[in-house]
Amino acid sequence: MTRKLVARLVGLFFLLLVLYAAAMELILRRLVGRAGLPLHALGEASLWAGLIALAAALPVSAWIAVSVSARLRRMSHFAGRIAEGDLSARLEVHRSDEFSGMELALNRTARRLDESFAEIESRRLELAAMLDSMQEGVVAITSEGLVRWSNRVMQQIAGTQIRSGRPLIHSVRDPELLGCIRAALEARELRYGRAGSLAPGRIFEINAAPLPSGGALAVLHDVTGIEAAEKSRRDFIANVSHELRTPLTSIQGYVETLIEEKGASPATTREFLGIILKNATRMNRLTEDLLALASVESPDYKVKQQPLRASALVDDAIATMGGMVVDSGVDLESSGAPDLLVMADPDAMNQVFGNLIENALKYGKSGKRIRVGARHADPEVEFTVQDLGPGIAYEHLERIFERFYRVDKARSRESGGTGLGLAIVKHIVQAHGGRIWAESELGSGATFHFTLRLAPQETVVHEPEDRVSPARASD
Ligand SMILES: Nc1ncnc2c1ncn2[C@@H]1O[C@H](COP(=O)(O)OP(=O)(O)OP(=O)(O)O)[C@@H](O)[C@H]1O
Ligand SMILES: [Mg+2]
Repeated sequence: MTRKLVARLVGLFFLLLVLYAAAMELILRRLVGRAGLPLHALGEASLWAGLIALAAALPVSAWIAVSVSARLRRMSHFAGRIAEGDLSARLEVHRSDEFSGMELALNRTARRLDESFAEIESRRLELAAMLDSMQEGVVAITSEGLVRWSNRVMQQIAGTQIRSGRPLIHSVRDPELLGCIRAALEARELRYGRAGSLAPGRIFEINAAPLPSGGALAVLHDVTGIEAAEKSRRDFIANVSHELRTPLTSIQGYVETLIEEKGASPATTREFLGIILKNATRMNRLTEDLLALASVESPDYKVKQQPLRASALVDDAIATMGGMVVDSGVDLESSGAPDLLVMADPDAMNQVFGNLIENALKYGKSGKRIRVGARHADPEVEFTVQDLGPGIAYEHLERIFERFYRVDKARSRESGGTGLGLAIVKHIVQAHGGRIWAESELGSGATFHFTLRLAPQETVVHEPEDRVSPARASD
């Protein structure tokens, strides 16, 4: 390009020279034709000719120089804008010469850069949206341990803003996570870990992998729920095994004694067989309770709800359990119930009242009175089973609804309890869309409350005539 420009300028110079020579020749010819002119006049004439040619060449050269320099300046300014990131800049191309070829090429380059950057930016935004929609926390680290970027979940887990370009340790202190990332950086291999101190009460599984461009990427998966479910499963198996082992060991011991002591008196044999029967009954009851619990905990468990009168439910519960309290010296009475319709499954309600009244009888017998009632608490009806026994200490009130939880294990076992009754009741009430809770003051008895939704009051009433005794009411 530059060579072409020099060639054009040299060409121009020669053109001017030829013009000059032609002008000189013309003037000389005229002068010679006129003959008689002195020599100095000839010199003067050639000087004029030179001056005229120079006067013509100067503005032309100046114009070319100014125009070339202006276009070069425009190009340099354009290159500056591109370098500063203004990829929308374009050069105006009016003429068609060597410069315009260069200007078009520069415009093309700028357009391509613009398109490439727009695509990179759109991919970056897509990736960021994808990372932010993930359930997992993700953080990328440079080989020096500085944060490259992190997603939204990672910021939530850390509970603070994780700034890019700052050391990760400034925002996250969990030694497991930091150690896992360091190990992945050093070994250039995938590393696994488990972080327990990132967020209170939450456990995260960590996968830290080295990045091809240096640094590492850590992905944090919340396994708190899985861990809790796993722990609950382990506890459940341990509890069931323990509950079964106790009566089994007893049965095994008495059977072995009966076999070994051949000369045992009929009275002793009878006594031992009685103990064996009691333990077998206990095991049978435990398996029945476990089956009932499995049924109500199953996602397929559905209650067959229908409109029933709250007062009828209370009367029915008292009538059903009445037989149990006859010889116990305890009064089982109604504290009143509204004549409102609730949505309930009569069989399931028998199970709920049966368990609650049985508990009141077992643990609150000393209070001598059990009251069953209901009251309108719009949009629900709240049922209560109240005893005046020793009550339940505050710290146990929430936990008694857990599987196998018993305030006094020995006493409960003695009375044949498995610790599953309230867990079953809770699931049944929740399947009705209701809530259940207990209130108590030590020494003043315990009251169990549960709620049922109101049914449309104009519906046809189904009286709970099909009275199914609760599974364990007869035990
Ligand atoms: N009315 C009550 N007064 C005092 N303590 C109670 C009362 N009801 C329940 N509890 C306590 O709550 C615990 C859990 O009750 P739950 O009905 O779940 O089990 P359980 O009665 O021991 O056994 P199960 O009902 O399976 O036979 C009981 O062991 C007892 O300690
Ligand atoms: Mg019970």
